[in-house]
Amino acid sequence: MKKIHLNAFTQCCINHHSEGQWKHPLDGSARGYRDIDYWVDLARLLEQGGFTCLFLADVHGTYSVYRGSRETAVRHAVQFPSNEPTVIIPAMAHATRTLGFAATYSTTYFPPYQTAKLFSTLDHLARGRVGWNIVTSYLADANANFGIREELGHDERYDRADEYMDVVYKLWEHSWEEDAVVRDVGHDVYSDPGRVHTIDHVGRWYEVPGPHMCEPSPQRTPFLFQAGQSGRGTDFAAKHAEAIFCVHANLEVCARGVAKLRAAIAKAGRAPDEVKVCQGISVVVAPTDAEARLKLETCRSYASPEGSLALFSGWAGIDLSTVEPDRPLDTLDSNAIQGVLSYFKDVDPDRRWTVREMGEWISVASIMPKIVGSPATVADELERWIDETGIDGINLVPITQPGGFRDFAELVVPELRRRGRLHALTPGATLREQFFGPGRARLPRHHAAFSALPPWKTAPR
Ligand SMILES: Cc1cc2nc3c(=O)[nH]c(=O)nc-3n(C[C@H](O)[C@H](O)[C@H](O)COP(=O)(O)O)c2cc1C
Repeated sequence: MKKIHLNAFTQCCINHHSEGQWKHPLDGSARGYRDIDYWVDLARLLEQGGFTCLFLADVHGTYSVYRGSRETAVRHAVQFPSNEPTVIIPAMAHATRTLGFAATYSTTYFPPYQTAKLFSTLDHLARGRVGWNIVTSYLADANANFGIREELGHDERYDRADEYMDVVYKLWEHSWEEDAVVRDVGHDVYSDPGRVHTIDHVGRWYEVPGPHMCEPSPQRTPFLFQAGQSGRGTDFAAKHAEAIFCVHANLEVCARGVAKLRAAIAKAGRAPDEVKVCQGISVVVAPTDAEARLKLETCRSYASPEGSLALFSGWAGIDLSTVEPDRPLDTLDSNAIQGVLSYFKDVDPDRRWTVREMGEWISVASIMPKIVGSPATVADELERWIDETGIDGINLVPITQPGGFRDFAELVVPELRRRGRLHALTPGATLREQFFGPGRARLPRHHAAFSALPPWKTAPR
């Protein structure tokens, strides 16, 4: 029987995917997101609930496609304000033993040398329980904040990210030999300078001499997540990722998406199952189906549908305010709108979607498929996702925070455990080992990180 991993998906902001819930009396995100106790309590809750990893999204600009302005996003707290995710990890790691922490960090904004130092530090402090969600980023107004005047095209951003990965791999895997740290008290030697190497990277985008500033951390390279869904994004993920985060509207589309991903992974020369695929799902659970439906309706009454349209417009790059709210989308002939419509056709093929209806549907848990019901109903539906799509895990997107995580941990997790559907986690293991088993703290030797050996490894010493 196939088991899955549970990841919790959120961001250091006021309710990540459900605009307006900050007004809900059971939502603590507006008060909590800037409070370290909130994050430490959440980490403990997730660990007790058997979650493998807390996955932290991040952005560096505002959602300003909607109405050609950031106004709606600011008004409805659409991932704005949003704090830095990496700095909260050490406190959460200190309070836990099995939970992993994946932070989103952009290859467009941060130099690879700095990224390598940051994640090595986190991996040391969290004793190997750190992951990196590699993103190339998508918000247009973020570029200016980093002094980027000329935006690269979509595919070129991935080309640059490929070279970026070369640089960080060289720093993490090839700069320090395994036995470089000798800590020889008698001879007064901490590290052997002959075993700490420069990387001398010179490429199209980056020149980085090195050496890496940090001695090898438990995983060396942090566990690698990726979530690009385009053709180029899939190729990038197939080459680098160890876990992929996807969002598909229903089981059939997800099954096709997972098969396509596995084919891309095989084409990249890797075993199709050596990358874990996790689907975003939102769950509303209560002791009975009727109570769960009521809970969802209560959440809907706090939602800010316009804020959700601003979020979605930013993702899709289409200003949905330009479409008359009650006009069926299938009467519009713009390619972009048809692309949006095709996602919603998968959500419910029998419905003739208008912008207003979409806004209401995505106002809780955005575009995530939603499972609503008693623990048994939710577990039945999750078992279908596990057995019919080929996924290895879910990324749980709560509606109220932390209530949505607590409900899942208290009501659904015992049911999934009873059905033998959750992986057991090992205290003290690294995040990579939680996903791939004992003895797998490091990237495997056939990973792209080792495709170009540095001179000191090829030349006789
Ligand atoms: C489920 C999911 C979560 C994502 N989370 C983030 C995020 O937190 N920050 C970000 O900048 N990009 C995020 N992205 C964007 C991508 O990782 C990627 O950089 C972007 O979608 C462009 O690539 P693509 O065209 O291949 O999808 C996410 C994408 C998906 C599908």
